[in-house]
Amino acid sequence: MSEPLDRVAKQQLVDEIGTWHHSINLGDGVVTPGGKTPAHIHDELRRLRLPEMAHKSVLDIGAWDGLYTFHAEAAGASRVVALDHYAWSIDFQKATAYRSRERGSGQLSRAFHTIPEVWDPIGLPGKRGFDLAYRVRNSRAEVVVDDFMTMDVERLGTFDVVLFLGVIYHLEEPLRALRRLQAVTGGVAVIESEAIWLSGRLRRPLWQFVNAAHTHDDPTFWWIPTAEGLQAMCDAAGFSRTEIVAGPPKRSPLWRRRSPHYRVVVHAFC
Ligand SMILES: C[S@@+](CC[C@H](N)C(=O)[O-])C[C@H]1O[C@@H](n2cnc3c(N)ncnc32)[C@H](O)[C@@H]1O
Repeated sequence: MSEPLDRVAKQQLVDEIGTWHHSINLGDGVVTPGGKTPAHIHDELRRLRLPEMAHKSVLDIGAWDGLYTFHAEAAGASRVVALDHYAWSIDFQKATAYRSRERGSGQLSRAFHTIPEVWDPIGLPGKRGFDLAYRVRNSRAEVVVDDFMTMDVERLGTFDVVLFLGVIYHLEEPLRALRRLQAVTGGVAVIESEAIWLSGRLRRPLWQFVNAAHTHDDPTFWWIPTAEGLQAMCDAAGFSRTEIVAGPPKRSPLWRRRSPHYRVVVHAFC
């Protein structure tokens, strides 16, 4: 185990990393300044309705800074695996500089893995936040640096609980992704995604192809389902039962967000 860090040292390391996706409590009053604020996370945890994780094995696909990996450990999981590669390969300081140059010249965003100055799958600059939180929290999670879509999923084995939060819309082949998810799920997969709202009478299983370089300033956004679309694709992928635990709001999100999108949560059981 490495030397414990005092408050000042923790804060300095947090500040040096700069870009954080998750707000993670590192103790001594130090909380990482995540794009997902503590209030957002509080609300998200309520909507996810995470299953009991004590004494269970948990796989966190797309772990990024590790909020949900550490959450599973704190909830008493017997084994936790954190898996990611994409965000971990990005140098976020260089990515921010690149994006502002691009915006200045009016060009459409390109995916970070196509920009050599930003993409570093060997040095893993985007994993520094995860590594710091892992160290400070004395995490014992197993860490897998790999692409969930191309890796050998048999090597992963199966898990009681699989977290697939905010990942599916980043994947070009969602049905293949859900089949792979089903293969590693022994109990339940918690799937969280951006979703399209349709009014009651129009609700049906649909997936919208998103030309996201235009709409989200993020060309790694591919497909956005309706809640029913996600549920239907889980069925097709071989899950035995699915439950929408956070579905469409009663009123169109257009009214509040100027977008027809909201966040859906589906529990898919094996
Ligand atoms: C929107 S973030 C969600 C992070 C976290 N799960 C959460 O909900 O706060 C999407 C994550 O999925 C990861 N990801 C995207 N494609 C992936 C892939 N093919 N294999 C593994 N992780 C992937 C990204 O690196 C990123 O960390």
